[in-house]
Amino acid sequence: MKLMPETIFETERLIVHEWDDPSWDGFVRHTNTPAVMRWLGGVREEAAAANTRVRLEGFNDEFGFTFWCCRRKNDGGHLAGEVLGMVGLKRATVEGTKVCGMLEIGWRLREDAWGKGYAKEGATGCIDHAFATTGDDDLVALTVEGNAASWGLMQRLGMQRRKDWDYEDPYFSAELNPTIVHHITRAQWQERR
Ligand SMILES: CC(C)(COP(=O)(O)OP(=O)(O)OC[C@H]1O[C@@H](n2cnc3c(N)ncnc32)[C@H](O)[C@@H]1OP(=O)(O)O)[C@@H](O)C(=O)NCCC(=O)NCCS
Repeated sequence: MKLMPETIFETERLIVHEWDDPSWDGFVRHTNTPAVMRWLGGVREEAAAANTRVRLEGFNDEFGFTFWCCRRKNDGGHLAGEVLGMVGLKRATVEGTKVCGMLEIGWRLREDAWGKGYAKEGATGCIDHAFATTGDDDLVALTVEGNAASWGLMQRLGMQRRKDWDYEDPYFSAELNPTIVHHITRAQWQERR
């Protein structure tokens, strides 16, 4: 019997759930593309993509949350039933930075799912889930200056730029530095909901 991957939460149009092999294959097929990976270090080799899944499963083991699969509900709408990408939570891991250890939200959607409000809807569900299931009072999101789609979403979510928390990430090239930080508190989020 084929088991359904566990649902983490649902929103009006989306189901956010754990990974299984078919969802991971769909995710890689639709998101390991030049447009999606523009600000994420470019298209990955197959082995590197497989490594990403191991890393995500490691976050789940370590923190109890990760960047999960984000799928459109099978409701007859745009891309019904399809994997749209991922959205989720981890802890910021770059040692020696102001944000290390803080709750971090992230997102990555296939290009034909951009501009439909899916990322904001998934992220909103994720922040609700974060503050409902952890004791953290702060949440950050990380990107680079060039990734206006990503920091635009952070600002549409009500997050505030924390220039004083920006940092150089030795893992990335000069074009992908510095990492810029946006932040929201539990109280600020509750006020918006
Ligand atoms: C970052 C990313 C997730 C943003 O996705 P997005 O679709 O632009 O974000 P949103 O869900 O907020 O959608 C916003 C757009 O949808 C439109 N929209 C359409 N229908 C909508 C609806 N029902 N509700 C809300 N917005 C809607 C909005 O008007 C807005 O369009 P605009 O940008 O022309 O004003 C996406 O660009 C992406 O996956 N990028 C590649 C991966 C990446 O870089 N990830 C981040 C790494 S730090």
